[in-house]
Amino acid sequence: MGDLTTERSSATGTAPVLVASNRGPVSFSTADDGTLTLRRGGGGLVSGLSAIDDPHAVWVCAALGDADRRAAREAPDGRLDLAGHEVGGQAVRMLDIDPQTFAHAYNGVANSTLWFVHHLLYATPTSPSFDGDFRTEWAAYQAYNGAFADALAAEAAPNAAVLVQDYHLSLVPALLREARPDLRIGHFSHTPWAPPEYYRLLPDDVARAVLTGILGADRAGFLTERWARAFAACCEDLLGAAVDHEQLTVTHDGRTTRLGVHALGADADFLRERAHRPDVDERLAALRTAVGDRRTVVRVDRTELSKNIVRGLQAYRHLLRTRPEWHDRVVHIAFAYPSRTDLAEYRDYTAAVRRLAEEINAEFATATWQPLILHVNDDFPRSLAAYRMADVALVNPIRDGMNLVAKEVPVVSDHGCALVLSREAGAHAELGDDALTVNPYDVIATAEALHTGLAMSPEERADRTKRLAAAATALPPQQWFLDQLNAL
Ligand code: G6P
Repeated sequence: MGDLTTERSSATGTAPVLVASNRGPVSFSTADDGTLTLRRGGGGLVSGLSAIDDPHAVWVCAALGDADRRAAREAPDGRLDLAGHEVGGQAVRMLDIDPQTFAHAYNGVANSTLWFVHHLLYATPTSPSFDGDFRTEWAAYQAYNGAFADALAAEAAPNAAVLVQDYHLSLVPALLREARPDLRIGHFSHTPWAPPEYYRLLPDDVARAVLTGILGADRAGFLTERWARAFAACCEDLLGAAVDHEQLTVTHDGRTTRLGVHALGADADFLRERAHRPDVDERLAALRTAVGDRRTVVRVDRTELSKNIVRGLQAYRHLLRTRPEWHDRVVHIAFAYPSRTDLAEYRDYTAAVRRLAEEINAEFATATWQPLILHVNDDFPRSLAAYRMADVALVNPIRDGMNLVAKEVPVVSDHGCALVLSREAGAHAELGDDALTVNPYDVIATAEALHTGLAMSPEERADRTKRLAAAATALPPQQWFLDQLNAL
């Protein structure tokens, strides 16, 4: 290992700022004629990074599918920018990781294990069960993290700042520090963090490796104080690390990592402009025609276990069963776009959502009223249209790092919208005062909150929405990114 370290540290790159994330800012598909088509993604990280206007900044990400892999292979060292692709303001290095290794790391460890742990998703009588297959996946996760650390070490200029994102890359900070002790390293968790009793479901060595991996960073960032404190509690409990609860630092093995809280907000300028383009207006008109002058309950999510879509539908059904005054006066618009469809749990969950939606329509629909409109495909302008017309927004996750939908709806709402919000969403820390708070497991209480939201006066809704929008945009993505960079 010594030789490797010397070799790596002597060969420094030129990037003063680097970002690493599993999903990058662009993805590729193959057109019918065999050419590669590039698509640019959105999200907080993409707009955050646009804050730094430095063509030498490098974003390191993984090739996710076959077309990505081909693009990465055809580019020198995976540098898409050098191959002439329009990737945005910075350089992008896309890693062509062996498909099997990638699948084990992404599906097996990141999405089926760490995601489940942090969101408390296991039905524990039967899962998890850490057997030989898991050990194969864990070895792949280590290799995949190693590939990121190698690429970052190669691209980074001396003393560069590196911002490593999320649970996919929890081992990278420690690996990178070993290779390049000169770097300033940050890690940011976009998920919640599990409480120690639940985190301890992981095999001891894995649980420790994830913690010490992140502690390789100078600074570990979280979306809320609650998640930062949970991380500190796990370090105390599993590593015997010394935690300064006032300063929010963790000292382990002679090094101190500072914990930071950066509550990513909605990008108001982008959303307000985007939500008034003709494609959104068109979809708004179509939705209006479908809904008539009835009120709307709107939800927009990835079809994601933690989003609690099934209990949300149960709550709507309970509302219709117990409050017939809403019959023919409300429509629930539920958009659940596909996510992580390689995992059987996610496919089963989507099927359960569809089934329940059909049952609700079968139970209540009349010749002139369809109580529920469900779409399970992705259409961003249509989501914005739904945001604009929502009377009530339902955001009821079991547990969520932040939940940006809760922040986006108030920003683009045309006439004000009541927000029914789970107390387990990170966004609740900032939006709780003006939202209708629910326990996500309590279907009856959620139904009552829907009723309260639907019955709320337009004036009160508009007032609350104004305050919600102000709180939701307190930390726009660019500032969120710069704050982390400056804190390093
Ligand atoms: C969450 C994670 C992100 C991830 C996103 C979409 O927000 O924190 O890291 O990119 O979900 O999930 P996917 O598996 O499609 O990248």
